[in-house]
Amino acid sequence: MRFDIITLFPDFFTSPLSSGLLGKALIKQIAAVHLVNPRNFTTDKHHKVDDEPYGGGVGMLMKLEPIFAAVESLPILPRREVILMTPQGQTINQPLLRELTTSYDQLVIICGSYEGVDERVLHLVTREVSLGDFVLTGGEIPALALINGVVRLLPGTVGKVESLKAESFEAGLLDYPQYTRPADFRGWKVPDVLLSGNHQQIAHWRYEQQIERTHQRRPDLYENWLNSDGAQEPEKL
Ligand code: ADE
Repeated sequence: MRFDIITLFPDFFTSPLSSGLLGKALIKQIAAVHLVNPRNFTTDKHHKVDDEPYGGGVGMLMKLEPIFAAVESLPILPRREVILMTPQGQTINQPLLRELTTSYDQLVIICGSYEGVDERVLHLVTREVSLGDFVLTGGEIPALALINGVVRLLPGTVGKVESLKAESFEAGLLDYPQYTRPADFRGWKVPDVLLSGNHQQIAHWRYEQQIERTHQRRPDLYENWLNSDGAQEPEKL
């Protein structure tokens, strides 16, 4: 998977892209990230990348020409999506990450800054994506969240494929509680079933916990799960 990030703040990405599992995945060339600064595509002597909005209003908008020039400088892979990070877009969720991972070889991600971008940038864009119903100062953090979530799903990033399948959201349920040593910390004990060695009982308990937690914490997800094909009573497992 190739990512091209269009950003006025390429330095912002240095540490997140070199740390942890994401950093390892990039070293292993599971994915490649290219950072492109629209400022390098300005033609005026002040390298101007923002301007006032027509009609007045607060703040500045990102200018079109440097963004177009930056995107048009990129190679074009066959299965390519050009994404604008914006609070107006579709919210990132696990099905969206899965779709991006399986359907594309190249994700061009445009990070808006200031008060946003000139609307005509949408002529370049095939999809608008949001991190959630809140406003940040720019699209860099949302872009990092998207890259992280997509790379995590690529084969070879996470050790065991099972650890992807079983966890939150992949089955439409929240994750079950997990514990590691010690079995007793200040009187807070690990549930007996997890020490039992009975794998069938453990799987059953975990599934029950997932259903219970989702019901309590995320009634919206629970309703969707109940109406989905994958929903099964724990007794029937
Ligand atoms: N830019 C600013 N806020 C954002 C958000 N919530 N999602 C995506 N891009 C953004």
